[in-house]
Amino acid sequence: MRILVVGSGAREHAMVWCLAQNPSVDRLFAAPGNAGIASEATCLPVDADDIAAVIELVEREGIDLTVVGPEAPLVGGLVDSLESRGYKVFGPSKTAARIEGSKAWAKDLMQRHGIPCAASRAFERFEDALEYLDALGGAPVVIKADGLAAGKGVTVAQDRAEAIGALQACLVDRAFGEAGATVLIEERLSGPEVSAFALTDGREVLPLVLAQDFKRIGDGDEGPNTGGMGAYSPVPLVDAATEGRIWDEIARATVRAMDAEGVRFKGLLYAGLMLTEDGPKVLEFNCRFGDPETEAVLPRLRSDFGELVLATVEGTLSSYKAHWTDEVSVTVVLASGGYPGEYRTGMPIAGLEAAGEVDGVVVFHAGTKERQGRVVTAGGRVLAVSALGATLAEARARAYEAVERISFEGMQYRTDIAARAAEEERS
Ligand SMILES: Nc1ncnc2c1ncn2[C@@H]1O[C@H](COP(=O)(O)OP(=O)(O)O)[C@@H](O)[C@H]1O
Ligand SMILES: [Mg+2]
Repeated sequence: MRILVVGSGAREHAMVWCLAQNPSVDRLFAAPGNAGIASEATCLPVDADDIAAVIELVEREGIDLTVVGPEAPLVGGLVDSLESRGYKVFGPSKTAARIEGSKAWAKDLMQRHGIPCAASRAFERFEDALEYLDALGGAPVVIKADGLAAGKGVTVAQDRAEAIGALQACLVDRAFGEAGATVLIEERLSGPEVSAFALTDGREVLPLVLAQDFKRIGDGDEGPNTGGMGAYSPVPLVDAATEGRIWDEIARATVRAMDAEGVRFKGLLYAGLMLTEDGPKVLEFNCRFGDPETEAVLPRLRSDFGELVLATVEGTLSSYKAHWTDEVSVTVVLASGGYPGEYRTGMPIAGLEAAGEVDGVVVFHAGTKERQGRVVTAGGRVLAVSALGATLAEARARAYEAVERISFEGMQYRTDIAARAAEEERS
């Protein structure tokens, strides 16, 4: 099999790394990939968002299976374009990807089918949104841009003024363009967050695992949001009964709801959840693997990832089970100085090999590239250091030991990834 992975982050590196272990994979390609992916796959300079160029690459290289990492090409219809030409591709159609591409669409679906989520209403006119805000009488709210906003479209408003500011930014100033032409005003929930990953061929749902990620730049969840600064899996805080409810009442119910409405979702369904006093509730869905959770999840997989991906594409998931190591995992992201604001690139990275020698550790590349035989930084998030261990404490210790072996100018990372969960695990 000749497989193409579309994307260039640590998520795609983890996928390529996992696929490379499959004996039926003859050749791996990535578009565009990065310096780490290049050690396992042939990287071709094709932008993940350039649908026409990806199709051309698939035709030219005789690709048997395309695996799409990021959301933008999914929401843009890459899967439909490849399938209509008879190619196999892992990921949802453009219509099914609306579950991530439009928060209003996802919310309507959940409300029609009784899937637990925060109450909310959608608005296109600023005046109407204000009127509703006033009718809520100061109840805490979250303002969400409807469409893809690269993780910047959500405001958990501390007061009325902040809520109005967010509505104004979306509806009046068009800070997110069309993505913010519709906004949701949502009831603010509270509780710990977890992410749930399931593979589905649109009928059968194969639950994978739960993970938790760390969105803020600083220790103790301080500072601005990022693409994700770390993750761990599984999540000891979630008991088996709650996990069962997540798979049945949320993942399976959502796939069934979509199928009932004629929208078959194929690929990876990611539910971002809050564990409230009334049980788990959906904050949002993503239509692809999460980053950095994937870097924590895939090293624990003991089943053949390529087979699971193919079964998802071919609609034969019912005959598969996913097997996992008993070990747990922790992933620490190393970012460029200044990220998530402005940062410089081109800094040489030292210590990659030594870091990879720590027991149980794999170093996945995010924003890296090769320049004159050296690996240099090429993005905001640069590396994702993942470690397995018997306990979260052990996985943490291994991950941070590897982190300390790596250096580049301006390197920053959180020191508290999975720290609280490791405490809970001990008690
Ligand atoms: N209804 C809500 N109540 C409280 N917090 C929320 C709510 N919705 C979202 N959040 C917070 O905002 C973050 C981002 O929201 P999310 O819907 O996941 O959008 P995105 O990931 O597209 O930015 C969540 O991870 C959560 O911390
Ligand atoms: Mg989210």
